[in-house]
Amino acid sequence: MKEKHPITFVIFGATGDLAQKKLIPALMDLYTKDLLPEDFNIVGYSRKDLSHEDYREFVSNSLNNKGHSHPEKLVSDFLKKITYKQGDFNLLENYESLSKYLSDLDKEIEDCSNKIFHLAVPPSLYENIFKMLSDSGLSSPCTKHDDKRWTRVLVEKPFGSDSENAKRLDKMLGKLFKEDQIFRIDHYLAKEAIQNILFFRFANAIFEPIWNREHIDRVELKLNEKDIVPNRVNFYDGIGALRDVGQNHLLQMLALVSMEDPGSVTADSIRESRGDVLSKVFLSSKDSHNLVRGRYDSYLETEGVSKDSKTETYFRVKLEIKNSRWKGVPFYLESGKALDEDSSEIKIVFKDKESSVCLIDETCRYNNTLTININDQEISICFWAKKPGLTFDLEQKKLSFKYGQEENKTIDAYEKVIYDCIKGDQSLFTSTYESATNWRIISDIMKAWKNLPLVKYKNGIDPKEIKNN
Ligand code: BG6
Repeated sequence: MKEKHPITFVIFGATGDLAQKKLIPALMDLYTKDLLPEDFNIVGYSRKDLSHEDYREFVSNSLNNKGHSHPEKLVSDFLKKITYKQGDFNLLENYESLSKYLSDLDKEIEDCSNKIFHLAVPPSLYENIFKMLSDSGLSSPCTKHDDKRWTRVLVEKPFGSDSENAKRLDKMLGKLFKEDQIFRIDHYLAKEAIQNILFFRFANAIFEPIWNREHIDRVELKLNEKDIVPNRVNFYDGIGALRDVGQNHLLQMLALVSMEDPGSVTADSIRESRGDVLSKVFLSSKDSHNLVRGRYDSYLETEGVSKDSKTETYFRVKLEIKNSRWKGVPFYLESGKALDEDSSEIKIVFKDKESSVCLIDETCRYNNTLTININDQEISICFWAKKPGLTFDLEQKKLSFKYGQEENKTIDAYEKVIYDCIKGDQSLFTSTYESATNWRIISDIMKAWKNLPLVKYKNGIDPKEIKNN
């Protein structure tokens, strides 16, 4: 449904990789679907000295790079909604001038717009930006005829750089904005295949009785990529794989797989269930096979990476959950760059009970696996079937369902994130509590691997080969 009041969408870090690859295409898609209000403005804000025209060209190139196929007229109308404001992230006077600029835009439409500030910048800048947003008055919504509009902030992950810093940021953010104004993005939560975990588990009564330690042997969660870290060194170096995707995407995947039934599909109950289970997660093993951090061979040669960088581009950890459903079940989390394949999935491996349908004199153990493949948006179950023919031999087969076909078309995660922020629906965003529990887990891992060597690995390697010596 279309929002009726005007909205101004301000992108901090307007010329960055994220704006180019995700935000601009997502905004264009929402515009194409007519889901943005009549009066909708996008203001790009960054340090570069650009004219409005320059920035429109940047936006137009971003759309072309994404291989969009929108009609020309639609694109040119979209571009008219875009302007640019140059400014430093640390100078108060630049924010004051942005504030004046936004009021002028409001005057043009003779209204007072709702505002979204999207922080598409490295997390090290957050603290200052929050302070400046507040000091310049930008964090306060405007009012039209007693009708108070809203101001929301969309922040990227990782929110903070460690437990302490995240707490400080949270405290500061909590003073400036109420919880319902803060949208902490974890774009994985907005992926169709991930959202579906909740519905798959709680709408199909056949799974609940076996979704526990009695029947599940282990859960494997991974987000592995072939890509190296090319354009995002500024962001990535010093952050590393654990904080880039472990602190958020992988822990949120774990939460959805392991949480209790939220009882309803409201944002509060879903976030509470996710937070509850995350608060029981702990690092269960410090043995060298299950606690690994690595770095691909050529990482230090990347332009912009400091020569004494200690950043990991790969990690593997084993976690457990302290509750009656999961006690003793290992959850393996793994993620890395420059690996042999792109693979983002959750694998639930069921216990292999001894089976009676064996050939005489053999002992057989057949196990089943349920895989949620995030990239391919597919859920599949591996099961055993009798091979056709004269013998009683068995073979493994797959039952599967895949999103993405015509009748199941999915939308891009960022489109969903921005749309939900406009609607004020926070189900797919991380709460303050979840963010804090995630940091506790990550801090424990970081402490545990403090003295671990950073294992070097060859670009394109199978991650099974990455081992501590
Ligand atoms: C981002 C990480 O959040 O997720 C990237 O910062 C990672 O390092 C990306 O490549 C993976 O997301 P997707 O949607 O491409 O699977």
